Amino acid sequence: MKKVVVSAPGKLHLSGEHAVVYGKPAVLVATSKRLYIEIKSQISNLKSQNGISKLKEKDDYLSKIIQLVEKKYKTEIKNCVIAINSDIPIGAGMGSSAALAVATTGALREWLGKPWNPTEINELAFEAEKIQHGNPSGGDNTVASFGGILWFRKEFEFLKSFWLLPFKIPKDFSQFVIINTGRSETTKDLVVGVVGEKKKQLGKKFTKWLDEVENTTKKIVQSIHDEKETGFKQSFQVNERLLEEIGVVSSSTKKLILEIEKTGGVAKISGAGGVKTGSGMVIAFHEKPQILIDMAKKYGYPSFQVQLGGEGVKREEVVV
Ligand code: PMV
Repeated sequence: MKKVVVSAPGKLHLSGEHAVVYGKPAVLVATSKRLYIEIKSQISNLKSQNGISKLKEKDDYLSKIIQLVEKKYKTEIKNCVIAINSDIPIGAGMGSSAALAVATTGALREWLGKPWNPTEINELAFEAEKIQHGNPSGGDNTVASFGGILWFRKEFEFLKSFWLLPFKIPKDFSQFVIINTGRSETTKDLVVGVVGEKKKQLGKKFTKWLDEVENTTKKIVQSIHDEKETGFKQSFQVNERLLEEIGVVSSSTKKLILEIEKTGGVAKISGAGGVKTGSGMVIAFHEKPQILIDMAKKYGYPSFQVQLGGEGVKREEVVV
């Protein structure tokens, strides 16, 4: 039986989210949490909910990705079943939608017998992300395609420059914990509705804000490169304050972050954020990570530890 399994990682933004939509650099990191797409031949008389024709009838992201691939390669995908398995939290700033777009386009291309090509997978996934998010920078799908720690900048709609940083987060930096504060808004709500509106209100001051974020992003990369934890923590905190200034951090998340800082740690939201309830994923660093785990528990938020710098899109299994 023909079978293809392709996976892609979830990501975290170390710095530069939102500013990256306006051409500033961002640093993204692939995590060890992954999403898997499995495509198998459909046994003809089995009416599965995962059957390709049933999936295409739905008005969800998966069906839009399938239709995009069919249009691109001028073909109809049939006689197969598709299953998704993922341990990436959904809609919380860990790039679950980009991982879905990358793993699905990768798996469908493989199913159609196209040569394995992460660059083409990335480009197609970016087209899908545009359908889903309106005005994405392309950072999420690029880190899901190439993995590692990525310096990313959208120069034009048709030209994105990115660089896989040839170093790692130093082992002697404090340990970090990811706290999921949840969120009610979509990425589009925050990018277009919140930051888009703020840009109109702020006028020239928005350019200043963008420059400050860029400066901070550069300092974060420099301090990882130089293995200077103090500089890293300071810039991380500045980055959080800039995100608060632009209006994408909720009051409950600000409270949590302030409490972390009072115990000697640092934390920032990662990704689009959130205002009405929580702000999605918070990356927190502390010499004593147990303090962070206990604090998350006190607030009623799930927390976990992940490895950073995971692999990009990957062929897990191909049986032809
Ligand atoms: O969807 P999220 O929470 O992973 O955030 C995406 C990051 C933004 O910079 C806010 C948007 C973008 O397209 O880069």
